[in-house]
Amino acid sequence: IADLFAERGLKVFGPGREGARLEASKAFTKLVLTEAGAPTAAYGQTEDPAEAKDMVARFGCPVVVKADGLAAGKGVVICTDEAEAHRAIEEMLVGGRFGVAGRRVVVEELLEGEEASFMAVTDGRAVLPLASSQDHKAVFDDDRGPNTGGMGAYSPAPVMTAEMSAWVTGQIIEPTVAALRERGIEFRGVLYAGLMITDEGPKVLEYNVRFGDPECQPIMARLRTNLLDIMQATVAGELEGMRAEWDDRDAVCVVMSSEGYPGDYEKGRVIDGIERAAAMTDVTVFHAGTARDECGRWITAGGRVLGVSALGHGVAEAVSTAYAAVEQIAWEGAHYRRDIAHRAVAHAAGNSGN
Ligand code: AMP
Ligand code: GLY
Repeated sequence: IADLFAERGLKVFGPGREGARLEASKAFTKLVLTEAGAPTAAYGQTEDPAEAKDMVARFGCPVVVKADGLAAGKGVVICTDEAEAHRAIEEMLVGGRFGVAGRRVVVEELLEGEEASFMAVTDGRAVLPLASSQDHKAVFDDDRGPNTGGMGAYSPAPVMTAEMSAWVTGQIIEPTVAALRERGIEFRGVLYAGLMITDEGPKVLEYNVRFGDPECQPIMARLRTNLLDIMQATVAGELEGMRAEWDDRDAVCVVMSSEGYPGDYEKGRVIDGIERAAAMTDVTVFHAGTARDECGRWITAGGRVLGVSALGHGVAEAVSTAYAAVEQIAWEGAHYRRDIAHRAVAHAAGNSGN
């Protein structure tokens, strides 16, 4: 789409086909990270099962086996032993699980630490880092149950200190943008790095070429600069010197989802209370999967339905305001996690005790 827009001289915020490969191909991402000299897990990539198994032997277990392409968040298998790794390799390369997306695999060392999301806007040269954030992938409390697109998020991520953010910008994001440029790719849009904060420092798990959902919601709640100004500067290639102003407060987003998500779920349930929640001070209700029925009522129309977000002085206050807003909203079978931002709250409590 971005390429078609560009061909017709239309403004578009987002990378073209080549730049988007950073999200669509894990092997491509690894190559670019290597060219950029940016830290990431040691890896190998291949289409050959025997070679993939050699890599497993070389790295030792636990090891991570990944389908190269897009697999709806299911293409990453963390393998505790060789048998499990061999099974994942066979399923992808021989069994055709994930189709073309699994025709090539990336085998890499397991990284340990806390995960954080780091997004930056770039016009292909200049980089404007956004506030840090963290999301919760599992559908149930205590990170149980299957992975989703994200059940909640908060910003800032306490694990990302100001120094670490500056380091990630200088050692990961800027070199990546430069490596893309070397390849003739002018990346204009959002570069989203999924990071593992290891004992050796941050390492890149993956790139996305868009805002994270739901990480975007708490970030937007805190952004004081007009987003349109940032996007227009990006599109014009004039991002250099642009700064973003942030609300000092913490922001938390609690996702309300349909019963059954990320599996099958029903749509069309009437939602009550959105206006009530949205009228609360410091609350924003972001719509994700909603529609209006013929009577003009809000109904559910997707797996993740609403992102109920709140600002607060300290993360604990943001959490309690967000949940107070969530409690205003109801539909049959509505689901949400009750422990969004628990790590940040524990972190903040620990800090104030110091
Ligand atoms: P990815 O799609 O590559 O980001 O992988 C999805 C999730 O799998 C990540 O958010 C991590 O939780 C986990 N993961 C991926 N690669 C690794 C790794 N090398 N070590 C540990 N966990 C990983
Ligand atoms: N929340 C993760 C993503 O948007 O990919």
